[in-house]
Amino acid sequence: CGIVGYIGYREAFPIIIKGLQRLEYRGYDSAGIALFDGNQINLSKTKGKVEDLKNKAKEISQKGSIGIGHTRWATHGVPNDVNSHPHYSNSGELVIIHNGIIENYESIKKELTKRGYIFHSDTDTEVLVNLIEEVKKTENVKLGKAVQIALNQVVGAYAIAVFDKQKPDEIVVAKLGSPLAIGIGENEFFIASDASPFIEFTNNAIYLEDEEMAIIRLGKEIKLRKIKDDAVAYPRILELQMNLEEIEKGGYDHFMLKEIYEQPRAIKDTYRGRLLAEQGLVKMSGIEQNMEKFLNANRIIIVACGTSWHAGLVAEYIFEDLARIPVEVEYASEFRYRNPVITDKDILIAISQSGETADTLAAIKLAKERGAFVFGVCNVVGSSIARETDAGAYTHAGPEIGVASTKAFTTQITVLTLMALRLAKAKGVFSETKYREHLTELATIPSKVEIALQSNPLIEIIADVYKDSTNCLYLGRGYNFPVALEGALKLKEISYIHAEGYPAAEMKHGPIALIDEHMPVFVIATKKGHYEKVVSNIQEIKSRKGKIIAIVTEGDEQVRDLADHVIEVPETLESLTPLLTTIPLQLISYHIAVMRGCNVDQPRNLAKSVTVE
Ligand code: G6P
Repeated sequence: CGIVGYIGYREAFPIIIKGLQRLEYRGYDSAGIALFDGNQINLSKTKGKVEDLKNKAKEISQKGSIGIGHTRWATHGVPNDVNSHPHYSNSGELVIIHNGIIENYESIKKELTKRGYIFHSDTDTEVLVNLIEEVKKTENVKLGKAVQIALNQVVGAYAIAVFDKQKPDEIVVAKLGSPLAIGIGENEFFIASDASPFIEFTNNAIYLEDEEMAIIRLGKEIKLRKIKDDAVAYPRILELQMNLEEIEKGGYDHFMLKEIYEQPRAIKDTYRGRLLAEQGLVKMSGIEQNMEKFLNANRIIIVACGTSWHAGLVAEYIFEDLARIPVEVEYASEFRYRNPVITDKDILIAISQSGETADTLAAIKLAKERGAFVFGVCNVVGSSIARETDAGAYTHAGPEIGVASTKAFTTQITVLTLMALRLAKAKGVFSETKYREHLTELATIPSKVEIALQSNPLIEIIADVYKDSTNCLYLGRGYNFPVALEGALKLKEISYIHAEGYPAAEMKHGPIALIDEHMPVFVIATKKGHYEKVVSNIQEIKSRKGKIIAIVTEGDEQVRDLADHVIEVPETLESLTPLLTTIPLQLISYHIAVMRGCNVDQPRNLAKSVTVE
């Protein structure tokens, strides 16, 4: 989610709206704004984008020099008007925006309900603002103090901004876990999740630390306090030297690199609330509600394009191996024009990051017409594919801006793995031990991705060696065959080097003819999964003088002796290896593209969302 606030002498409305648009990369499935016009608070909020809010807000007075706004990326729960921020307290005097989660909101809600509070939304945020109101009343304290006392009763993460109609010259903000920056101008202040909403007004900013709060009062210095013990904290005013674009990239040179590095968090967000490893449970409402259909299905057909198609190929291994359901994977563009045989015993899974890909959408419509049950795996909440499918599961990767897909791929695989595990359990094809082993291991993947990312400096060195290649080959077997395809796709997309992915054993039926001392060959040779056979393939490459860059399991000695370079990834279960082996291949493409001076985030001829066929 993104939050924005303003207090000063200008009209707050345009500043907040523009700020929210800058923060839309943080989420855009609902948005809202609250302004104080000197008399009353005017509030407008809606499902949809900031553009929708701009329209909706025509219904209210847009006057006022103090206000707060919010844009939301629903990770859980439906985005709708009521659940959108800002939220009022019961008296209508306090208004709040919140980014984060209050974990113990249910018990607080119960207590407040007993005391007569009424709740209009399902949100934890509405509970928080009423808790602040209750504290303010019962303890007879000012807003700042009330916020502090309330936050001490709260477990969770937050960046909040609250103001009180009775004291319209101040906004109280606090932070734990979620980011919050305060821009300091001449007789005006800005509040935002990052500095992009206010960079054009001021270069001076304070970034709150965790467990800090601030009372931002017009005409006064900002006072910072520790939430826990009320100790005074001293604001460190930073002079921002970044431009807008750099700020949105969170300090990374490119969105692609930022998104590669976001993967541990993104994978966690994907399984949060779904993977309960300790209890031995996988919960996915889209599957639970349609369990009969899944259990009675003759087969699963997966349709997708590009990187999402590669995730589909990985899913074929996962579903067949773990859940014992036959799977076919098709390019959506081929499927839709091929007069495919489809029955009502088929389940079609459509995978799409954007949820807007025209071919995938058309394939869904065709399958539905012919009676199949259609399940969507999308990243963008409320997208066309998400709406067109009968049921689905979001990946919750957060906005992916780099055209070359990275975190969308690994989070798609994560969702598909969860689905396969849930179905394996329901079908009883897995022993309890094996099932639990998978759940526990999946929960360790974010930290293992973190370790895989630590090879970045080594990968940069390797990239430098091969940056001038004109061709590259990528080989893998089993679960890692699709990873080889994805590795090759990443390289061609952003560095314009011709690259091909192949199942390692197929090399001898053609590509081997291409191998000479100028041909770099990326081989995925992790310990699990046909290791010895891949080692033989490596030997075949070596004897033809090909250059070998191998992705191996930590501690591998055998391949190290044969390969020109090895990049290690942590050990994991075979079915989960794609989540790790993909990482170095993303990084190598990234560095090669940067070294070749290519536009990494917007490669020529490509679009992020292909809404034409
Ligand atoms: C475009 C993008 C790719 C993406 C493909 C499918 O080609 O450049 O990165 O994999 O579309 O998009 P989707 O949004 O359906 O996953």
